[in-house]
Amino acid sequence: MATSHSPVMLEEAVAALDASEAGTAVDATFGGGGHTRRILEKLPPGGRVVGIDRDPQAAERASDLLRDRRFSFWPGPFDEVLREMAESGEKADAILFDLGLSSFQIDDPDRGFSYVHDGPLDMRMNPEAGISAAEFLNTADPREISRVLSEYGDVPRREAARVSREVASRRPLSTTMDLTNAVRAAVGWKERGGNPSKRVFQAVRIHVNDELGSLRRALDAAERLLGNGGRLVAVTFQSGEDRVVKRFIADREGKCVCPPDLPICVCGAKPIFRRGVVSRPSKTEVGENPRSASARMRTAVRTSEPLEEHSEGGG
Ligand SMILES: C[S@@+](CC[C@H](N)C(=O)[O-])C[C@H]1O[C@@H](n2cnc3c(N)ncnc32)[C@H](O)[C@@H]1O
Repeated sequence: MATSHSPVMLEEAVAALDASEAGTAVDATFGGGGHTRRILEKLPPGGRVVGIDRDPQAAERASDLLRDRRFSFWPGPFDEVLREMAESGEKADAILFDLGLSSFQIDDPDRGFSYVHDGPLDMRMNPEAGISAAEFLNTADPREISRVLSEYGDVPRREAARVSREVASRRPLSTTMDLTNAVRAAVGWKERGGNPSKRVFQAVRIHVNDELGSLRRALDAAERLLGNGGRLVAVTFQSGEDRVVKRFIADREGKCVCPPDLPICVCGAKPIFRRGVVSRPSKTEVGENPRSASARMRTAVRTSEPLEEHSEGGG
């Protein structure tokens, strides 16, 4: 079981949050608190950091930091916590999403995220909420399982159909090895793109945790929570979540949608965010921490434009 997690793009993310200026910074994915600790080191005395995580074990890891009066921890899904903060009229100067799983979660076989070590087929970030991977795979229509594998794991359609049929024929599945063995029986080890279980596990995990829905709703709430000049920083690890962040920012850059033959803009498009840089971890970081290899960091700055009524609420 992992005893630590190496925070990915730590210095780049904290610099982009401009933590030395931030009055209120939100670390929406506390995990092991690596980013939070660095933000606290940079934060001026009057500042504060709100940590959020839906994993009860992350809440335990946050407890020693509560001695720092500038830090508070809100357990729960980040979309719900950010929405509550926005609804209660709070404002934030910087919000960080460091998405995906921590090494604490991946490397603990009892959490069911590992396709290498045997354990219960769970995969919930909060094991007390929602349905487990086993409940999903043992009850869903094979066509639904197939859709999940293609959509969230980029598993080719025919491969996804073979895996979902194999899963259905082996029900009930109860351990991670039950799923790994079903994948192996369906598509073997020699399919392109590495171990095929990797993408299957990723897809099922994204589905049972509603990761993309939660991210869309959280970004909507972040938009309301950030004040003028507030900074949004998102570190993503797979294409689905990166697309959600990229589209969210692009949709709010205020691009004119008037027909090209109009002499002046009449659509009234106004930028809600100014897009910042897209960056990747350095070669040194990837060498030291191979789990950072797929990371991509997107940043954006909230403008002073007020929000239209229609952009409020969940996505
Ligand atoms: C990559 S880890 C963050 C690591 C952290 N930045 C650090 O340096 O230790 C992602 C964390 O976000 C949490 N998480 C992911 N999606 C979440 C959501 N929708 N709501 C709340 N927490 C979430 C996971 O439980 C996990 O602990």
